[in-house]
Amino acid sequence: MITCKGLCKSYGDKKVLDGIDLDIKDGSIIGLLGPSGAGKTTMIKILTGQLDASGGSVEVFGKDVKNLTGDDKRNFGIMMDNFGVYERFTCRDNLKVYADIYGVPKENIEKILEEVGLGDSIKKPASALSKGMKARLRLARAFIHSPKVIFLDEPTSGLDPQSMRSIHKMITDKKEEGCTIFLATHNMEEASKLCDEIYLLNEGKIVEKGKPEEICRRYNRLKKIRIHLTDGKDMEVSAGSESADTINALMRSGMLETIHSTEPTLETVFLELTGRGLQEAG
Ligand SMILES: Nc1ncnc2c1ncn2[C@@H]1O[C@H](COP(=O)(O)OP(=O)(O)O)[C@@H](O)[C@H]1O
Ligand SMILES: [Mg+2]
Repeated sequence: MITCKGLCKSYGDKKVLDGIDLDIKDGSIIGLLGPSGAGKTTMIKILTGQLDASGGSVEVFGKDVKNLTGDDKRNFGIMMDNFGVYERFTCRDNLKVYADIYGVPKENIEKILEEVGLGDSIKKPASALSKGMKARLRLARAFIHSPKVIFLDEPTSGLDPQSMRSIHKMITDKKEEGCTIFLATHNMEEASKLCDEIYLLNEGKIVEKGKPEEICRRYNRLKKIRIHLTDGKDMEVSAGSESADTINALMRSGMLETIHSTEPTLETVFLELTGRGLQEAG
């Protein structure tokens, strides 16, 4: 679906992407996880043909991204800051602009607004929408022409938890429909929850990749089991078979309240690899 090899991008003499290899398979959600300034937006712009790379190769649908036709690009759905909404237009008219461009029947507009939970706001101007509603309108706009590949640049940035959940649901629904989704985010929980595969990006380089749980397990150096007991005490035992009797006895006695393995979170892995956290500004 999308592959890039040795992808580089410089702005003047500042190297922003430095030898990126990606291989994105059909029908999965791929996360590009990195702090602000890591190069995520630049990456999406290059993959969608909005910006030329300075080196390396990018292939989309088996073609060099530079040779994509308008028809090829019709298979892209894009949600990023520079793809905004018309504030003074109603929700319906906002989508109508894109429905007309893509030759999507007008009847679909109301259907998709219902789908994203904006059924009651069809006639409201975008300026009257809350932040979460506007994000859903921008997603609806990215989805309106049933694209095959969807690029989302920080789709839930600054949203309340409920809006975030509804956007996550819309994203997983699209995956169920068979879409491939490329999600750039600095939100570790979002990436862990949604993505089949994550690329950790720091200062223009991929520092780690894999399934979220797999990455965390790879860095599980402690290899311990943390136990919380019903009497309020905490204890830690090694994760080997030598702890089986202890854990068994605690379970039988009814004293075991919670039990967890000690693999790190993605945030901790990121910190270990790069010396900085995901929430830090670039
Ligand atoms: N048009 C541009 N000109 C010069 N530098 C840029 C431009 N766009 C982005 N950058 C720089 O490239 C780096 C990566 O930016 P960006 O891709 O927006 O990162 P992210 O989306 O991960 O926050 C940042 O240091 C940013 O300042
Ligand atoms: Mg960005």
